[in-house]
Amino acid sequence: MRKKLIAANWKMYKTPEETRAFFRDFLPLVSGHDRDEIVVCPPYIDLTAAVEVTKNSNVAVGAQNVHWKNEGAFTGEISALMLLSVGVTHVIVGHSERRQYFGETDDTVNLRLKAALESGLTPICCVGEVLEEREAGLTDDVLRRQCVRAFHAISAKKAAKLVVAYEPVWAIGTGKTATPEIVAEAHAVIRREATEVFGEDFAAQLRILYGGSVKPENASALMEKEEIDGALVGGASLDAKSFAAIVKY
Ligand code: PGA
Repeated sequence: MRKKLIAANWKMYKTPEETRAFFRDFLPLVSGHDRDEIVVCPPYIDLTAAVEVTKNSNVAVGAQNVHWKNEGAFTGEISALMLLSVGVTHVIVGHSERRQYFGETDDTVNLRLKAALESGLTPICCVGEVLEEREAGLTDDVLRRQCVRAFHAISAKKAAKLVVAYEPVWAIGTGKTATPEIVAEAHAVIRREATEVFGEDFAAQLRILYGGSVKPENASALMEKEEIDGALVGGASLDAKSFAAIVKY
């Protein structure tokens, strides 16, 4: 049995003060909930506040990106060591918004993933096709390519903490959710790829999340599927009640 992971991706929302206010409401709503792992990924500037207020709780804190060097002349970047130093345990890598708007490539995703794993962070590596690729029948090819390139030169031993999130780009922030059947198909492609790269035992343990317009209303239909190991939630994670309802689907 793989424990499900429900992660919030706040994107570019909330100040430190709003972060504290969120957790004041959210923590009591999920207190004692240990069926699933809960992670919240706020903007960098909120991480310290988030770690502080979630201390001794069942909620872990993640970042939304990480650079592959420990330090250096890389204006605007943050390293894995920096994240660890403030108590962050998880990090999103290769989100489609990074790929679409900030020049993230399969190769930089691979570098970030390696750095995260080497540092001991738990990376949530995002893959997913855009609408044109799905309509052209290229979904499987895209997923295979993104996985092969992301996992390149990483051993199964190093990859132990890896989590993958399948996020079809056409379902992100659009209100369109992939059906559980579409998700299951994509997850099977990803798990096959993980089997090829890391071996069967590893792939059987690998958690593959779904992301894209997950809401309290559709969370249980998705989460009840055995092959869906959790969710990466954007918009609906900004409100404490709504994210708690998803966690407790
Ligand atoms: P959404 O975002 O839930 O707002 O669709 C998901 C994501 O981008 O991780």
